[in-house]
Amino acid sequence: MKTFKIAKIPGDGIGVEVMEQAKMILDKVCNEYNVRLDFLELKAGGCAIDECGNALPKETIDACKTCDAVFLGAVGGPKWDNLPGSERPEQALLGLRSELGLFANLRPTKVFHDLKEASPLKDSIIEKGVDVLVVRELTGGIYFGSRGRRFVEDVGVQSDKAGYNYFGIKGRKIMENLEEAYDTLCYNREEIKRIAHRGFQAAMNRNRKVTSVDKANILESSRLWREVVEEVSKNYPEVQLNHLYVDNTAMQLVREPSQFDVILTNNMFGDILSDEASMISGSIGMLASASLRDDNFGMYEPVHGSAPDIAGKDMANPLAQILSGAMMLKYSLGMIEAAKKIEDAVELVLKNGYRTGDIFTTGMNKVGTCKMGELVLEALN
Ligand code: IPM
Ligand code: MG
Repeated sequence: MKTFKIAKIPGDGIGVEVMEQAKMILDKVCNEYNVRLDFLELKAGGCAIDECGNALPKETIDACKTCDAVFLGAVGGPKWDNLPGSERPEQALLGLRSELGLFANLRPTKVFHDLKEASPLKDSIIEKGVDVLVVRELTGGIYFGSRGRRFVEDVGVQSDKAGYNYFGIKGRKIMENLEEAYDTLCYNREEIKRIAHRGFQAAMNRNRKVTSVDKANILESSRLWREVVEEVSKNYPEVQLNHLYVDNTAMQLVREPSQFDVILTNNMFGDILSDEASMISGSIGMLASASLRDDNFGMYEPVHGSAPDIAGKDMANPLAQILSGAMMLKYSLGMIEAAKKIEDAVELVLKNGYRTGDIFTTGMNKVGTCKMGELVLEALN
């Protein structure tokens, strides 16, 4: 029997509940394939702040490094909302991503045939088919650039030759000691190159189309992004490449999502566009994600957050966590057939009309978190 060691981090809020269901499904499927998953339970996020005074304890990160994959629920909640930025539960996510070198974030969105009604878009748009993969750079860009606060006078910028002041406004008095905050968006060629390869490789296994998203009309980092993506594309002659500005992409996603296959983009644009794309499917509660690097190691988590408003009420949709488990089997454990089995089971449960509250429409059978897990388990057979 083959054994894999999995770092299991349920986190906060509904993370705990959906994790329980997903673990049950994974155990069942792996057992059928004679594979054992050795789950190592670890703390990160708000619960780690409470217990260890730190969102990402060193033991957690060290233990993750000894595992074959990390399976994460969700972190955060109102209890920790008033902490300073550097101490918030979300820091655990950023820390895991950067410490583990997970530079490639894959976020697939598709409209499940039986969930068409849950989409806020018109039938006429959805019927053309929606199957988008957002490939988001995850360890660089504005999330990790230098940031801070300073006072305008410290910067030493007064007015330019034409007499415009620091704000680009002519004639306005400069206020001394005015506080400002800054964040830096920086990418080097290597960072762009490796994520671009990931995007093109993903497209080769899909519909062979990459839309690289940037803001090259304004940002220098985007102009380098475009240049490097063009260079990398030469290695993938079968893949069609186009470039879109991020604002236009946001619009095109709701106007005609069927035009997209792979969306390749930077950390922040990917954050925003993947939320938008996820909503097209009707529920963020359905969407899984993988964060990868150049070997088989990866971290798998649902796109949704910890949903504190429904936590502990057996209301959360466990399907995104379950589907994240399927991605883990596929990308880290090489169990492609087993992953497909889970995906098919989820589709079957939906086809049979079972829905958690977030994807519920009239005429369907409303079920809770545990029941949904049980139904997927049954559907595996
Ligand atoms: C995500 C989340 C995180 C991000 C936050 C919670 C740090 O929004 O995974 O999309 O911005 O990356
Ligand atoms: Mg986000």
